[in-house]
Amino acid sequence: MKKLEKNSIIEISEGFDRVGKMIKIHGEEQKLYRIINNPYKEFFQWLFESKKLKPLFDKFLVETKISDEYAGENDELILEHEIVPDINYLFEWSREMTKDAGVFLLDATIELIKKGLFLKDSHAFNLTYSGRRWYFLDYGSIVKNPAQISHVWITHFFHNFVLPVNYFQISEGKKYRELAAEYLDKPFNSFRFFYFSFFRHPFHTISSLGRCWYFILKCRSVKTESGQLEVLAGLRAYLQNLKIKYPPTKWGKYYQREGAKVEDLSSWNQKMKSLAQMVKNLPAKTLLDLGGNTGFYSKLVKLSNSNIKTILLTDYDEVAVDMAYKIESELSNTSVTDFRSLSKDIEVFWKPHKKTVYPNFASRHESDLVLMLALVHHLIYYQNLSFEEIVETVRLCSKKWIIIEFVSNDDFHIKKWFKKGIKKIEWYNMGGFKKELEKYFKILSVLPSGEEREDRFLILCEKNT
Ligand SMILES: C[S@@+](CC[C@H](N)C(=O)[O-])C[C@H]1O[C@@H](n2cnc3c(N)ncnc32)[C@H](O)[C@@H]1O
Repeated sequence: MKKLEKNSIIEISEGFDRVGKMIKIHGEEQKLYRIINNPYKEFFQWLFESKKLKPLFDKFLVETKISDEYAGENDELILEHEIVPDINYLFEWSREMTKDAGVFLLDATIELIKKGLFLKDSHAFNLTYSGRRWYFLDYGSIVKNPAQISHVWITHFFHNFVLPVNYFQISEGKKYRELAAEYLDKPFNSFRFFYFSFFRHPFHTISSLGRCWYFILKCRSVKTESGQLEVLAGLRAYLQNLKIKYPPTKWGKYYQREGAKVEDLSSWNQKMKSLAQMVKNLPAKTLLDLGGNTGFYSKLVKLSNSNIKTILLTDYDEVAVDMAYKIESELSNTSVTDFRSLSKDIEVFWKPHKKTVYPNFASRHESDLVLMLALVHHLIYYQNLSFEEIVETVRLCSKKWIIIEFVSNDDFHIKKWFKKGIKKIEWYNMGGFKKELEKYFKILSVLPSGEEREDRFLILCEKNT
């Protein structure tokens, strides 16, 4: 056993946790460890030696073992965690994801109760979604079952899951996302829920709060293990049955409108054919689809290239991402993220004066191939971005290749914008865009993506080394 000295430790968890802290070790950056402080050592030793948690690795917990290589400077226990790729945070989950996260946490808690254990808290930051499953990450929160449901568990659960999902029944999640980034562990309390929901939906607000308080009081009155199981099963059924509504959004029904079918090769248009040709021989394993809507082109890339193993789809349209998450089994992960936030620290994006604790999207999701189709013109004409800002963000997200679509000022849709009074931007042209790309990338090929006229193109680039 090697003893870990202070200068070999890289601390990565924020805040104060009496049980321990997450660390990386210099020279072993690919591994993730947790120091368990000495007062808790005996409990965790018992927990792992009894193998109680092993059956939960498949569905609930991130796989973890006691390190057989390291001990702390004062003989603290060191746990070694499996690394979950592509981790995400509550402010990036779609509304359906938030609801599923809550149901998952209840299932995990119920499984732990059956093993004589419980969770100290039910913080949404203890969970992540990756590879089409949820993970519970925070071993420091596992305790011997006190046969009650703690105040902290109840508060977190209602603030992070139950009230937000009640809010999603009547509204998009944008406000929640903003608050989640700002208040981190307690985005919604009863007061905030009331404030944001009552004036538009008084009946829904009062009945939701009534129902929530009914469950809160039930949770508080629990004194036995069987009582815990009964109340949490009731809460699970309640949360599961809350139906999220899909108010129409600008892009929510995009592909239904287009009537396209990935599986039907005879129906492929020029863009689909060009994309399939471009990706066919790329040895890319990970794909990031920016502004991917419900994942139509992600699916096409996967179909055309069997090297692709994981796909992360992002879009800022809540409805599109909800659908992608629910329906598209090809997608390993989905995330509601605004392109403009990808290279920025998330709290800073929402609240510029705040100090960040969470790594930004680009640094967590750097992928072999980045797809960015039919997005640049929207970012330039409607969201005031420059070529420089767009290329810089894509560069940070890409390990090696990008396929980016350029829609010129001659395009039919853009011309309609001009008729509506949008001012033509003269510097917005293919030459200028290519020049910006060439600062960081080599252009490998350009293929048409428009149907009849040469007004849309796919550009395949490789990052300069
Ligand atoms: C024209 S659709 C293109 C969808 C898909 N990439 C394709 O080529 O068919 C544009 C998409 O970009 C998304 N979008 C627009 N601005 C965005 C932004 N700032 N951040 C993330 N997504 C954005 C829209 O929600 C929409 O799904």
